[in-house]
Amino acid sequence: MGGRMKDVLQELENRREAARQGGGQRRIDAQHAKGKLTARERVELLLDEGSFEEFDMFMAHRCTEFGMESDRPAGDGVVTGWGTINGRQVYVFSQDFTVFGGSLSETHAQKICKIMDMAIQNGAPVIGINDSGGARIQEGVASLAGYAEVFQRNIMASGVVPQISLIMGPCAGGAVYSPAMTDFIFMVRDSSYMFVTGPDVVKTVTNEVVTAEELGGARTHTSKSSVADGAFENDVETLAEARRLFDFLPLNNREKAPVRPFFDDPARLEASLDTLIPDNPNTPYDIKELILKTADEADFFEIQAAYAGNIVTGFIRLEGQTVGVVANQPMVLAGCLDIDASRKAARFVRFCDAFEIPILTFVDVPGFLPGVTQELGGVIKHGAKLLFAYGEATVPKVTVITRKAYGGAYDVMASKHLRGDFNYAWPTAEIAVMGAKGAVEILYRSELGDRDKIAARQADYEARFANPFVAAEKGFIDEVIMPHSTRKRIARAFASLRGKKLVNPWKKHDNIPL
Ligand code: HXC
Repeated sequence: MGGRMKDVLQELENRREAARQGGGQRRIDAQHAKGKLTARERVELLLDEGSFEEFDMFMAHRCTEFGMESDRPAGDGVVTGWGTINGRQVYVFSQDFTVFGGSLSETHAQKICKIMDMAIQNGAPVIGINDSGGARIQEGVASLAGYAEVFQRNIMASGVVPQISLIMGPCAGGAVYSPAMTDFIFMVRDSSYMFVTGPDVVKTVTNEVVTAEELGGARTHTSKSSVADGAFENDVETLAEARRLFDFLPLNNREKAPVRPFFDDPARLEASLDTLIPDNPNTPYDIKELILKTADEADFFEIQAAYAGNIVTGFIRLEGQTVGVVANQPMVLAGCLDIDASRKAARFVRFCDAFEIPILTFVDVPGFLPGVTQELGGVIKHGAKLLFAYGEATVPKVTVITRKAYGGAYDVMASKHLRGDFNYAWPTAEIAVMGAKGAVEILYRSELGDRDKIAARQADYEARFANPFVAAEKGFIDEVIMPHSTRKRIARAFASLRGKKLVNPWKKHDNIPL
């Protein structure tokens, strides 16, 4: 090799090394001292070993304000490119907090936009690792413009490729709105925050004193605001869980989710399910037991586990294929539908439908939660979201009513009338306008003083309606199945629906009640 050639290669290596150093060792040490990994370490852990191909390592900002022209680090605070997760392609960006606090400049935004454009064009998901002080203050409106360019691409990518946001540091101002438009947000406990305005601004404007953790920490966003879908202990666990979620998802809206090898017999019978429903109809049981016993290898990836526990959402596999599960949870609020549960499940159903993931619904719902708070909070509009989402969904829909299916909630929960493909019920199902007690109190108001008469009326109502057979006689329930055969019946049902084609009438888009 000639001397000049050697020099040129060395020059490249030197430049690469400088870019890898980001904001320098001191800031890298500070990042580690906070228990955070660097932008590059995160990419390494997220992707398959050695699979990362970087873009724009040498891009630098063009700002000349505030002496910025003398500080132009290669890469400009974000690492971008693509790689694979268990062999499947994914685009990534990872903000580097050691470079101007990971703040977003015009150039930084251009790098993110480039990989988002490629992701949309080439049909692969985007995972964004967010660790940023927001808009780069020195760049002013140029950085705001950069944010909006990213937002526009989030919107265009929505429903085309899955988008996952990992919040691994501060995330303030406009920086929260890009993640907010992605499909799933994971946060790291105690080291990540999301807020539109931070504690200091809040104090100035509203006089409320609040910590960053209370205002926008992982607990707040997974259990109160529902902004985030999951929270994990540290960077390593968060990245590992992102890989796990990724494996359930298709690469884009034209492809099916991947089929994973499975070792669990689809015809497996579960005798224990025959006694899952307690004798007393008002005693709760854990619907997750049914989900785990139905899933391949009891593998369930729950979404929004800490929010609206009265409904459970997440992904399982059946015969190796991804299925979205929505299930009423009798352990929380008796499994009632309310505002939070409706919003949570509606968004999940729409994600599944957008990406051709079949939906399995387990129903045990005594109705919508009554109350002034619910009505004034708009339960009509929010409940309608779930109704709308199920009704518009064209993916295979299999529903199993385990116990109660009362009133409007019966209709909502993927009933036959909302184009359910297979509507099964266990023999313990009770499908009616309402429970026996409520019904008798309305129908026989004049007899309410006579306890014996009322008890007889109630027994009569139960005998007539507290079963699945009235609905089965009308064809609203396709078959009453044995609880122990649930996995087998559901797996066969979905297998029979693999060729399903259902198209809604042409429209620009619908007008789901938002
Ligand atoms: C430029 C920034 C920056 C920013 C931080 N830095 N935020 N540089 N623009 N927005 C730099 C700091 O100067 C510092 O540089 C380094 O990053 C680390 O910051 P520290 O403050 O030392 O770190 P820490 O104490 O951990 O605090 C992190 C922080 C804080 C909470 C993020 O830096 C902060 O509050 N930053 C400003 C947040 C903000 O108001 N952003 C604008 C939001 S408005 P050195 O050289 O010392 O290492 C917005 C509008 C977008 O985003 C609208 C779109 C619609």
